[in-house]
Amino acid sequence: MAASSSDIEKAAGVLRAGGLVAFPTETVYGLGANAEDPAAVARTFQAKGRPPTHPLIVHIGGAQHLDDWVEDVPGTARLLAERFWPGPLTLVLRRSRRVPLEATGGLETVAVRVPDHPVAGALLSAFGGGVTAPSANRFGSVSPTTADHVRTELGDAVDFVLDGGSCAVGVESTIVDVTGDTPSVLRPGGVTREDLEAVLGRPVTVPSASRVRVPGQHPSHYAPRARVVLVEPGNVLAEAEAAREQGHQVGVFLPPSFADASVKAHAVVAVPGSAAAYARGLYGFLRELDHRGCDLIIASLPVEEGLGLAIANRLRRAAGPRA
Ligand code: TXA
Ligand code: MG
Repeated sequence: MAASSSDIEKAAGVLRAGGLVAFPTETVYGLGANAEDPAAVARTFQAKGRPPTHPLIVHIGGAQHLDDWVEDVPGTARLLAERFWPGPLTLVLRRSRRVPLEATGGLETVAVRVPDHPVAGALLSAFGGGVTAPSANRFGSVSPTTADHVRTELGDAVDFVLDGGSCAVGVESTIVDVTGDTPSVLRPGGVTREDLEAVLGRPVTVPSASRVRVPGQHPSHYAPRARVVLVEPGNVLAEAEAAREQGHQVGVFLPPSFADASVKAHAVVAVPGSAAAYARGLYGFLRELDHRGCDLIIASLPVEEGLGLAIANRLRRAAGPRA
């Protein structure tokens, strides 16, 4: 059910009182706190079980508020904000004194974004200030894309949950560091590298990605309970069968080119052919295979262009070594 205007007022009151509000964005649900209240921000880390040195994103209602939160905004940042806000783009800039160090994990920079969701927009406008919000999941697990996911993940650790339906983008925002000479993508996400380069008229740097089965430098994150194993698309069926013979409850991400194949597995997800639909469904698919009791998930990486870059990044992290 969609949040009503009295829900929005109540949520803004919870933020003012130092509480935590989960709210929908176009990417994933966020766990919001008053960015200027260090105690409330600290509660966010406790609720997630996340180390307090991990910096948060400050959500603001519009680009016109940017200069309240940051200093030394370069032209590239203005250009990106103008073109992509509201939307799934986060800019890393030098923090202003308004941003407490609790929100930045002690860094002198701060990540800022303007979410593109009517409920998030209404909350930010009713509250009036900035809202820190990490994804509303336990540290290391799969990000929530519905209000039910949030309730399952965080339960009583969150004071109020605003329901805005399923998230349209489904993977987190693209984070771009604009403090240096060359804009640098720190996390691929809902705004593609191609979109960024078209607007800037020059290349951006992206984190180096390695191929399948070399997970060493991708510590586990965005991970379901089931172990995720990445294989070449042509090997998905054979690997799934082999794992099943070893006694695993195998979940399979069936690539679109094998949509008609018959698969011997415990549970099968048909991967959508469009990257947008795949991104939208990704976290729900991982949760579903957990829910159905799979202990192993066999998947392959999509082509790493457009939204495929963000999907591949999340799958690699899901397949990374567990702590
Ligand atoms: O789509 C999103 O970005 C969602 C929604 C809720 O807005 N939020 C989200 O937050 O994904 P979180 O906390 O799960 O991820 C934020 C990422 C972290 O990886 C963090 O390291 C990075 O942003 N980050 C935050 N501040 C930073 C900074 N000053 N410098 C570099 N990275 C930063
Ligand atoms: Mg997160």
